[in-house]
Amino acid sequence: MSLIDKLQWRSAIKKFDPAKKLTADQLDNLLSAVQLAPSSYGLQSYKVIVIRDAETKAKLRAAGYDQAQITDSSALFVFASVTNLDNDFGKKFIDLVASTRNVARETLQGYEQVVLGALNGRTREQNIAWSHKQAYIALGVLLSAAADQGIDAGPMEGFDAEKFDEILGLKEKGLTASVIAAVGFRADDDRYSQMIKVRRPKEELFIHI
Ligand SMILES: Cc1cc2nc3c(=O)[nH]c(=O)nc-3n(C[C@H](O)[C@H](O)[C@H](O)COP(=O)(O)O)c2cc1C
Repeated sequence: MSLIDKLQWRSAIKKFDPAKKLTADQLDNLLSAVQLAPSSYGLQSYKVIVIRDAETKAKLRAAGYDQAQITDSSALFVFASVTNLDNDFGKKFIDLVASTRNVARETLQGYEQVVLGALNGRTREQNIAWSHKQAYIALGVLLSAAADQGIDAGPMEGFDAEKFDEILGLKEKGLTASVIAAVGFRADDDRYSQMIKVRRPKEELFIHI
């Protein structure tokens, strides 16, 4: 199957088969894809909480408008933005660049100023809104990577972020939930995946200049 065929096959699954679980390799592959997602400056100003514990999923379902995907999928990915994008966060990232590329910290001073300037030039709320956008890119990569492996995923914005933060103790970790995705395998009678995909025609979607 080509990538386009796989994207045609994928669907935001509503009804997962609770008996079908991701293998350790499948899950690890998805984590690798999310890890490789691009982000502005490469900062990755989010964390991804991967929940397979049934009890936690049940609590989250109540905070997710009772969407069955939350409990019936094999794993629930919660993308959560860092809430305090301060100098320390920026500097630690530059430390990581230096150690990963084995370059002297001083050579990255210009880059550091750019990164810190960007973070300090916005309010806390603006930084969180920006982080949410970064998290959505990681979500997109997850959805495509899952489709590539024949794994199903259901992205969801329909949840109470404050309640998710509370249940998962995210506030204490300096995080707040951005967006979530249920990952696993569709039930044979999932209705939506059997429907024709609705997309705007290319003539309407794209403007060529
Ligand atoms: C960011 C995002 C949030 C979504 N939130 C929900 C949701 O809370 N519940 C739901 O059933 N579907 C949700 N969807 C699924 C969309 O309705 C679905 O992707 C869209 O209708 C296109 O269908 P397809 O993904 O099956 O091609 C969400 C999709 C995205 C990308």
